[in-house]
Amino acid sequence: MISKKVDIERLEESRRGHASTYSTRFFDETVPKYEILEEGMPANAAYQLVHDELNLDGNPALNLASFVTTWMEPEAERLIIENIGRNFIDHFEYPQTEVIHERVVNMLARLFNAPEDTTFAGTATVGSSEAVTLGLLAHKWAWKKRREAKGKPCGKPNIVYGADAHVCWDKFAKYFDIEPRIIPMEPDRFAITAVGVEERIDENTICVGAILGTTFTGEADPIAEISALLDGVYKKKDWDIPVHVDAASGGFVTPFANPELQWDFRLPRVKSINVSGHKYGLVYPGLGWLIFRDASDLPEDLVFYVNYLGDEMPTYTLNFSRGSAMILAQYYNLLRLGRKGYARIATNVLENARYVAEQLADSGRFEVLNTADLLPIVTVKLKEDAKYTVFDLSHKLRERGWIVPAYTLPPNAEDIAIMRVVVKENFGRDLADIFVADVANVCEVLEGAKGEVVVPRRSARRGHHVN
Ligand SMILES: Cc1ncc(COP(=O)(O)O)c(C=O)c1O
Repeated sequence: MISKKVDIERLEESRRGHASTYSTRFFDETVPKYEILEEGMPANAAYQLVHDELNLDGNPALNLASFVTTWMEPEAERLIIENIGRNFIDHFEYPQTEVIHERVVNMLARLFNAPEDTTFAGTATVGSSEAVTLGLLAHKWAWKKRREAKGKPCGKPNIVYGADAHVCWDKFAKYFDIEPRIIPMEPDRFAITAVGVEERIDENTICVGAILGTTFTGEADPIAEISALLDGVYKKKDWDIPVHVDAASGGFVTPFANPELQWDFRLPRVKSINVSGHKYGLVYPGLGWLIFRDASDLPEDLVFYVNYLGDEMPTYTLNFSRGSAMILAQYYNLLRLGRKGYARIATNVLENARYVAEQLADSGRFEVLNTADLLPIVTVKLKEDAKYTVFDLSHKLRERGWIVPAYTLPPNAEDIAIMRVVVKENFGRDLADIFVADVANVCEVLEGAKGEVVVPRRSARRGHHVN
């Protein structure tokens, strides 16, 4: 979000200050909101002021909108706090942190089935957006080098992906001046097709994007089919087009819940994959990963070597400084859970998501668009005869604290408005029951069958499911 200058009236009003008084009785003076105060304030007063103001935010446990982790174990939190002041870029001072980073890159490359005869490589990023950007940038560079080697022009690169992609793909295309060739959705299709890819690629295509777990409906693009298509195109036309798989949310679910699904480096066209550590990697916000099938897929000219911090270090990131704590927390989770632990959690969240999908379908009010086959995401639309919209529903659920987004799909499915529930580890069966009951209550209110007050119902007595 870009924050804007506040107007002079708001500034002056803010000079009249906070009325709150805490135990220190500190606030007998104005605390301006949009200017730095002249003198500071005691630590406990500053803490209390910020802490209290944040009470206005939603409760992360009831946030079914975001994919991002809202709960970690106390031991993980201890590790995070112990390492919160460690700058990851400072490998000279914190060499062991870099060693751990390398271990995680190796673990993830092997999780994504990178062949042992490749020299896979990778890096931590701030999130999947940075990872996607860096992955695509590498493909742009590699394409340019291939074109230059053949003495061909390289002024008009394009990239092919679907309208089901996250906004970070559009940002990449815009920021790096690459023509986006976007495959639209259709009212009955929310992922891309290999045919759609075939119609748009040419010798200037730097890469095809495929999504494992789309932001809109949680489906997967047909990655194996696209990969096979591009293999054929390479043989026939000598266009060497790689696939980047955006596995922001699927990368930590599918390898455990559906290991047989071929979407990763088992497909030779897949040259890079991103995954969000802070989604189903189960780490707090601030962590993504980018993995290259082979170090040669990252052109050496994009790697910078800097010596400011005492050692010569290669870097391939957009930022220089970044925290180490989340990288260490990822390592903690991988050690703590192992493959079986991640598999148990993935299975559990999928079952809970399918349960929510079934319950909403059984209510007779909704059409379920995806039944959480692959990812623990439930998307529903209201049946045609509903007298209210999913936006009304989402708004009303907020009164109970639930944050459930409602939105319209991208072209050509823009007439479809859906509501999405992202099931995370801390959303157990009991909360699922309460949520479904609250949805039913809110629907009854909106249907006029009930007064305005949303009465909390007791959840079904099936006992708590502990995740
Ligand atoms: C498929 C996909 N790609 C990329 C992103 C961006 O990820 P991040 O928020 O980690 O930058 C998201 C976020 O939801 C996503 O769902």
